[in-house]
Amino acid sequence: MPAPPRIAWGLTGSGHFLRESLDIIDGLPDVDLFLTRAAAEVLSMYGVPLKVLREKHRIYQDHTASSVPVGFLYGGHYHTLIIGPATSNTVAKCVAGISDTLVTNLYAQAGKCRIPSIVFACDCEPTVVTEAPGGSVTLYPRPIDLENTARLKTFPLTTVAENIAGLQAAIAARLACLSTSCS
Ligand SMILES: Cc1cc2nc3c(=O)[nH]c(=O)nc-3n(C[C@H](O)[C@H](O)[C@H](O)COP(=O)(O)O)c2cc1C
Repeated sequence: MPAPPRIAWGLTGSGHFLRESLDIIDGLPDVDLFLTRAAAEVLSMYGVPLKVLREKHRIYQDHTASSVPVGFLYGGHYHTLIIGPATSNTVAKCVAGISDTLVTNLYAQAGKCRIPSIVFACDCEPTVVTEAPGGSVTLYPRPIDLENTARLKTFPLTTVAENIAGLQAAIAARLACLSTSCS
C-alpha cells in the first residue's frame, strides 16, 4: 500500500512567529519540512537545532540547484503545501513566478500539480512587532512587501494567512476538506 499523502511545510528565513509556527507543526501529524538555506541559518539563530526537528520530521534542505526534493510532489506524496512563516523575499518570488529556492520551487510545482498552498506571510500590516534573536523589534514593511502579499491572495489554489489564528484556521479548513469529499 502506498503511504498516505502528507503535509509539505516550507520554512523560510523568517523569525516572525517562527516559534508559534513550529508549535503548530508540532501538533500536526505527517509533516515533512523543507528548508531554504536562510531557514537553516535562522533556525539556529533562534536556538532551534535541526537535530531536534529531525526527531519528529523528515527534513529536506536546499542543497541542490534543481531542488531535487520537489519531485515528491509529482508522486502524490503531499496533499497540501504550507509555507510559514514566509519571508518577504519568498512571497515576492512566489508572486513573480520565480522558483530558485527549495521553498519557491515547492510553491511553483504545487501550483502546477494543483496541490493547494497555504502561505503565512510576514508582511501583512504597515507595522509589525517581531521577535528578533535579541528581543522584540518594530518593523515597517514596505509598500512593495504589502503589495506582494495582497497579490498572492489573488493566486489560484493559494490561501494567505495573515496571523497565527488565520494560519490555524486555514489548516483546520484544509484538513476538514480532506476528511470529506473535496481534495
Ligand atoms: C535573525 C533573522 C530573522 C529574519 N527574519 C525575517 C523576517 O521575519 N521576515 C523577512 O522577510 N526576512 C527575515 N530575515 C531575512 C531573510 O532571512 C532573508 O531575506 C533571506 O534572504 C530570505 O531567504 P528565503 O526567503 O529564501 O528564506 C531574517 C534574517 C535574520 C538573520
